[in-house]
Amino acid sequence: MLMLLTIKIFTLLFFLFTHVYSIHIGSVSNAIYLSSNDLNQTYSNLTCMQCSCLALRLNAVGWNCNDQCQMILNYSQNDIGLLHSSNTTYSFLIIPPQRSTTTTLTSSSSSTSTTSLTTTTTVNLKSTYIAPNTTVANIWNLNFYSYRAMTSTTVTVKFTFQAASGCQWYIDDVSILDPAGNERLINGNFEAPSSLSGWSTGYSGFCTFTYGSTSNQYHSTSHSYYSSCSTGTTWISQSFAATSDKIYNVSFWVYFNPSSTPFAYGNTGVNVTIN
Ligand SMILES: *[C@@H]1O[C@H](CO)[C@@H](O)[C@H](O)[C@H]1NC(C)=O
Ligand SMILES: *[C@@H]1O[C@H](CO)[C@@H](O)[C@H](O)[C@H]1NC(C)=O
Ligand SMILES: *[C@@H]1O[C@H](CO)[C@@H](O)[C@H](O)[C@H]1NC(C)=O
Ligand SMILES: *[C@@H]1O[C@H](CO)[C@@H](O)[C@H](O)[C@H]1NC(C)=O
Ligand SMILES: *[C@@H]1O[C@H](CO)[C@@H](O)[C@H](O)[C@H]1NC(C)=O
Ligand SMILES: *[C@@H]1O[C@H](CO)[C@@H](O)[C@H](O)[C@H]1NC(C)=O
Ligand SMILES: *[C@@H]1O[C@H](CO)[C@@H](O)[C@H](O)[C@H]1NC(C)=O
Repeated sequence: MLMLLTIKIFTLLFFLFTHVYSIHIGSVSNAIYLSSNDLNQTYSNLTCMQCSCLALRLNAVGWNCNDQCQMILNYSQNDIGLLHSSNTTYSFLIIPPQRSTTTTLTSSSSSTSTTSLTTTTTVNLKSTYIAPNTTVANIWNLNFYSYRAMTSTTVTVKFTFQAASGCQWYIDDVSILDPAGNERLINGNFEAPSSLSGWSTGYSGFCTFTYGSTSNQYHSTSHSYYSSCSTGTTWISQSFAATSDKIYNVSFWVYFNPSSTPFAYGNTGVNVTIN
């Protein structure tokens, strides 16, 4: 994970007759909150302060301020959540009111301008499906899961890519950490001299476009794996020895480059399985 997000908290005071209302607002700079519900609650040409005032009037729980002012009227578990986005500030109401403080959230690696951050998903991963509508296009999206091993056995994590005409999926910095923090995968960042060493790879069906190691897009250093098959699927997998009842942290970064032709996606997506 690669970034420094600064969270600021400030207080707006409203003087209404003899009562003083104190409203505490937090903000995260260079971040945008993607909500599943309120994406078109957007207002143009407002300053960030005007946007905040409108948000309070509309009883929004959060709002993005960039060249547009975008309201989040309520949170939902379907939300994509907080993502990295230059020049955007995400602000939110702090409930219940607290003292003003300044917090700095630091994550552990370096940053590039195209990284993004999703909120942590704590589920016991068996399989998941990543589709264009759950991915922000053209930036790196972090996916984070937990996996609990049911027995002590060899476990395989497999990513299957269905691309479609003109669009590409990229994956980088795949990691499975055991509870002691040891990395269980080899070459999860695809940077090994033989870029796919450690991984089993293959494809099924016609694969009329290309796939494999690339330096067109990467989350760390210089390489990632990508798939742009128009017909059929490609996959990469890797196995490791898991210990019964231990919880493993599974994370990876995904980048989706959409087709320039809208609606050409077909059923494109990435299936992730671990078993
Ligand atoms: C979102 O936009 C669509 C079409 O522009 C409109 O029909 C719908 O009512 C809007 N939804 C909200 C919550 O404003
Ligand atoms: C926003 O402001 C710009 C410049 O002041 C103006 O050109 C544009 O028409 C405005 N847009 C709207 C939607 O009011
Ligand atoms: C926001 O969502 C929560 C949980 O779904 C719900 O209980 C609450 O009533 C919602 N608030 C508004 C203003 O819609
Ligand atoms: C957006 O942010 C970049 C740095 O992240 C900065 O160079 C650029 O000037 C900013 N653009 C605007 C319009 O503020
Ligand atoms: C995303 O697209 C898939 C089909 O690819 C659909 O099943 C799913 O409901 C969509 N999710 C949202 C949140 O729109
Ligand atoms: C992903 O899984 C879904 C349901 O499990 C299946 O319908 C779909 O064909 C799979 N896609 C790929 C690319 O494997
Ligand atoms: C695994 O993730 C959890 C939840 O984010 C975290 O508390 C824990 O420290 C992580 N474990 C390792 C070994 O990184």
